[in-house]
Amino acid sequence: MKQEIAQIKQQIKNYTISSSDELEAFRLQFLSKKGSIQELFKFMKKIPKKEKAAFGKSLNELKKLAQNTFDQAKVAQSDTHTVLLSAKDDISLTSLSLPVGSVHPLTKTLQEMKNIFYRLGFNIADGPEVEDDFHNFTALNFPPNHPARDTQDTFFIRKDENPTIPDLVLRTHTSPVQIRLMEKQAPPIRSIMPGRVYRNEAVSPKSYFLFHQVEALYVDQHVSVADLKESLITFVKLMYGSDVIYRLRPSYFPFTEPSLEMDIWWGSKTNGKWLEILGSGMVDPNVFMASGVDPEQYSGFAWGMGVERIAILKYGISDIRIFYDNDIRFLNQFI
Ligand code: DAH
Repeated sequence: MKQEIAQIKQQIKNYTISSSDELEAFRLQFLSKKGSIQELFKFMKKIPKKEKAAFGKSLNELKKLAQNTFDQAKVAQSDTHTVLLSAKDDISLTSLSLPVGSVHPLTKTLQEMKNIFYRLGFNIADGPEVEDDFHNFTALNFPPNHPARDTQDTFFIRKDENPTIPDLVLRTHTSPVQIRLMEKQAPPIRSIMPGRVYRNEAVSPKSYFLFHQVEALYVDQHVSVADLKESLITFVKLMYGSDVIYRLRPSYFPFTEPSLEMDIWWGSKTNGKWLEILGSGMVDPNVFMASGVDPEQYSGFAWGMGVERIAILKYGISDIRIFYDNDIRFLNQFI
């Protein structure tokens, strides 16, 4: 008898239940009234008294094993398993990968820049991309015949012979937002102004007719060149790491005096070159006066950074046009 119990136990353990038909077959074979376990119970009467208890116990254990096996298989058959297993799908296969989008490297760079300037206490201001001549040029102290007003550089939206009708341009830089900010807000001002700018330039690996700048303006009492230098140096160290190689050079802009440009060393120590990333300076008193700020009371610094330049350095990109090609092979590298 013991041998038979062991045999049925083995059968139960070896049984594979992978469909509802097999589950039913299992129930009939082991758990139904005519099943093999129930058959064994019939032998109870014939077992000598002494062994009855032990025999009964092992039969009950066997029944329990069959019941548990049945219950587990039933759960596994429910839900999706029923569908998958009965349809003979291979559930070990990996699923199809879905295409994942990525953040554009310029957006990524801009986000990083904004995060740095938030930390330095700057907020964000905004201005229009179609500007009038006053905000784009005149208020920024551009003399009437300055070459930057030339049609070579500027996309004109409206240019009328009649001097009372103001010219409209696609802004050539983000500096006009400085003027708009000072027109509507009294100092202290500490803002960055990110945005698109447009220049009528030939497209080449180094220049494109549209690019991005991050303008900054800090106006308060006693703002000095030392504050400007400190802010710029802090920025490049946070952006590129504390071992970044930079230099500040004297320069000229109509709207700042004195003016500085900042370059970053691009390439290895022995084989590289300087790449200009921004123009900056102390706000010219004429600019303050054009925007209604008293230059006797306030001083300030400003800069305009090229976002593409910053990204080129950050990611080692050699052709500015690639930012605008929407080539998925390029963009996928920024996931
Ligand atoms: N607007 C200048 C340009 O597009 C960049 C610039 C230089 C902005 C000096 C500034 C500044 O605010 O102070 O080339």
